[in-house]
Amino acid sequence: MNIPQLKEFKQKSEKITCLTAYDASFAKLFDNCGIDVILVGDSLGNVIQGGENTLSVSMEDMIYHTKLVAKGVSNSLLVADMPYQSYTSPEQTLENAKRLVDVGAQMVKFEGGSEHKDSFKILQDNNIAVCGHLGLQPQSVLEMGGYKVQGRDESGANKIIKDALLLESLGVGVIVLECIPNDLAKRVSEAISIPTIGIGAGVDCDGQVLVCYDMLGINTGYMPKFVKNFLNESGSIETAVNTFINAVKDKTFPGLDHSY
Ligand code: KIV
Repeated sequence: MNIPQLKEFKQKSEKITCLTAYDASFAKLFDNCGIDVILVGDSLGNVIQGGENTLSVSMEDMIYHTKLVAKGVSNSLLVADMPYQSYTSPEQTLENAKRLVDVGAQMVKFEGGSEHKDSFKILQDNNIAVCGHLGLQPQSVLEMGGYKVQGRDESGANKIIKDALLLESLGVGVIVLECIPNDLAKRVSEAISIPTIGIGAGVDCDGQVLVCYDMLGINTGYMPKFVKNFLNESGSIETAVNTFINAVKDKTFPGLDHSY
């Protein structure tokens, strides 16, 4: 899987599937099932480290888990998150992105829009593929006043659309849209030619991502509305992953009950 192929998926209206993974065994299983994209998410701060948020995840944590996941991936596109405060200047962004690429990431992801313009630019100039992340940004949970749906009002919605257009113009290859209303995700996805991957952003995104521990029902804490436990209706993890893939591809997930 590569970035031009993901763009082709969008052109052909074929949905992109993505799950997070944090170790080689899960990564290999997802890869064997044919998942398009595997994300080493900084959600590992919650589901692996047991934290309340992702703010304590370090570059060393991300390098360690990206290295493990890379051992299990053969076909899926491997994306790694840049953790909190690892991209505060363009120079720092480049240095840390290179560290993730060195251990196997094919694309790096970080949260935010125009405030990181120069960081997006420096990565493009250095041929490092970037995934954006707009809408709810978990690394800004304190500033955002909690895990709240974003872009509900016109000015919030316009900022997300403007940022998406800017990111596309800066060479970003894919954008994750987290926790925004369906109709806004649809507007963003139609406004740009690069794929959007939604989580809590409705069925009209070009793809869907879930935290693997959430879709397997391992996470027993607070469960946002957009999460579906696919293991409940399946006899094995492998079947659950295949059910997720099929549900995304045939557009039956997410339904309205998983959307805002
Ligand atoms: O960290 C993560 O797992 C993510 C996804 C929820 C998109 O960023």
